[in-house]
Amino acid sequence: MSTYLDFVSKFGIGGAHPGGIPLTKEILNKEQISSHSSILDAGCGTGQTAAFLYINYGVNVTGLEINHDMVAKALERMASNQLPISIIQGSIENIPLSDNTFDFVLSESVLAFVNKPKALKEFNRVLNSGGRLIANEMTINQKLKPEEEEEVKQFYGIDSLLTEEEWIVLLKEAGFKEIVIYQADQSIFEENPMTEFNFSQNAGIELFQVMNQHANIILKYQGILSHRIIKCTK
Ligand SMILES: C[S@@+](CC[C@H](N)C(=O)[O-])C[C@H]1O[C@@H](n2cnc3c(N)ncnc32)[C@H](O)[C@@H]1O
Repeated sequence: MSTYLDFVSKFGIGGAHPGGIPLTKEILNKEQISSHSSILDAGCGTGQTAAFLYINYGVNVTGLEINHDMVAKALERMASNQLPISIIQGSIENIPLSDNTFDFVLSESVLAFVNKPKALKEFNRVLNSGGRLIANEMTINQKLKPEEEEEVKQFYGIDSLLTEEEWIVLLKEAGFKEIVIYQADQSIFEENPMTEFNFSQNAGIELFQVMNQHANIILKYQGILSHRIIKCTK
């Protein structure tokens, strides 16, 4: 796991995606979600979005998460709020669920950290025919110099930094159509008033340094390192 993801999980950051829950709300309000819909929150973290989905739409929500600390924090949230949301530990690269299970797959700042072609094919597989993938993912506005790209990849523990056009190629290869990709109004620099923290007991002081490094990288690559909202249909 990357040091960055270690920081996110030990600090128990809820709403660990650009724009936070306010952007999630804005994006989902444009979708046809009913109380009969089933949604996979892929890489659900502490489960803030999964809980929001159940509370606001009454939908059937499943959260999938690879990190043990995150799974524990998501389970704790669902139990203490008596929310009927299943949290499953597993990888979005190899989803332990059947084909054609969900009307929606939501991925908020998760695809960036995995093997993207593999995960996108898995998202396509678990979606019902006509199901929708909604994602909010790291995207570059232009190519970085090789040493700069290496710095970003190393810090976040990611294997590639994609432009909008490169995302579209991968989405098509995974079988998606009606692809819409756009930049949200919220920038990654805007403060998210709904960010939560749920610290692990073993969250070391050195992780504050990681938080600073993250802020520095975002500032250093301002205008290049960005994010996009991706919407497409199976
Ligand atoms: C930046 S956080 C975003 C969490 C959550 N979606 C949110 O917006 O608050 C990225 C999350 O992806 C999870 N993750 C990374 N690789 C994963 C994988 N292969 N399968 C499932 N989850 C993964 C991490 O553990 C972490 O919780």
